[in-house]
Amino acid sequence: MKTIQDVYVLKNGVKMPKVGFGTWQIPNGEVCYNAVSMALKHGYRHIDTAAAYGNESSVGKAIKDSNLKRDEVFVTSKLQSHIKTYQGALDAFDKTLKELDMEYLDLYLIHAPWPWNEMGKDCNEGNVQAFKAMEKLYKEGKIRAIGVSNFSPKDIDNILKHCEIIPHVNQIAFFIGNNQEETHQYCDAKGILIEAYSPLAIGYALSNETIQKMAKSYNVTPAQLCIRYCIEKGTAPLPKSTHESRIIENTGLDFQMKEEDVRFLDTIKDDPRRWNS
Ligand code: A2P
Repeated sequence: MKTIQDVYVLKNGVKMPKVGFGTWQIPNGEVCYNAVSMALKHGYRHIDTAAAYGNESSVGKAIKDSNLKRDEVFVTSKLQSHIKTYQGALDAFDKTLKELDMEYLDLYLIHAPWPWNEMGKDCNEGNVQAFKAMEKLYKEGKIRAIGVSNFSPKDIDNILKHCEIIPHVNQIAFFIGNNQEETHQYCDAKGILIEAYSPLAIGYALSNETIQKMAKSYNVTPAQLCIRYCIEKGTAPLPKSTHESRIIENTGLDFQMKEEDVRFLDTIKDDPRRWNS
């Protein structure tokens, strides 16, 4: 099977394609509709959106207009980070389903442990309330898996202490130079799958000489190496692009990296967003 359609099995048995198409910062309307349509045409079977991206309606329409059945595409959305009440989460979920024009979601995540404009604020009680609402929807069959995003081990501990279900997924910024070892190890130990957003470091990793050189040694592009690295680490990368040639390029993942090369990339601890090569 091609890597683009290969799957991870979540703790609850649900199969999730290893590579998802990210849609952060892709504007709603034609641009998003076309990008998602192209992604589906070129083999992606996992689309990641969020209420905060404002593009759920275009994502939903592109999936509807593809010739794929609903159960052939794994769809994720996220609860906006400022919604930290039980009823607020239930209402927001209804709105998300309406925007997507779908009957159910494959994965629903708490977008962040705090509102984006109050990063670091203690929202432990609110996160528990939001997660309990998601547990209810999960039990009702309206969501096939539930999880969190941008959560630290401490934030997840709070959920484990007060909720019933261990989150199935934690979606975090994960790329060469920012592989979040502590969170990754913690999640592995709990059976929580890491999804890697911004696997290309929003593009910055691609101009790095070390990455370019290693990519050449595998006869692949720097983008393909960066995405493959996430898979070698057991995470689910969510690359995004609005250009068809890059959408296709980012599916070229059918190669394996040598263990020593993965280990070498692990030692890079500088965030590529600060690299200037
Ligand atoms: P664009 O949408 O113009 O193609 P990340 O997934 O880490 O957030 O990175 C996304 C950024 O990287 C976007 O700016 C996207 O630009 C760019 N990008 C995506 N795929 C490639 C690629 N294969 N080669 C070069 N740039 C890419």
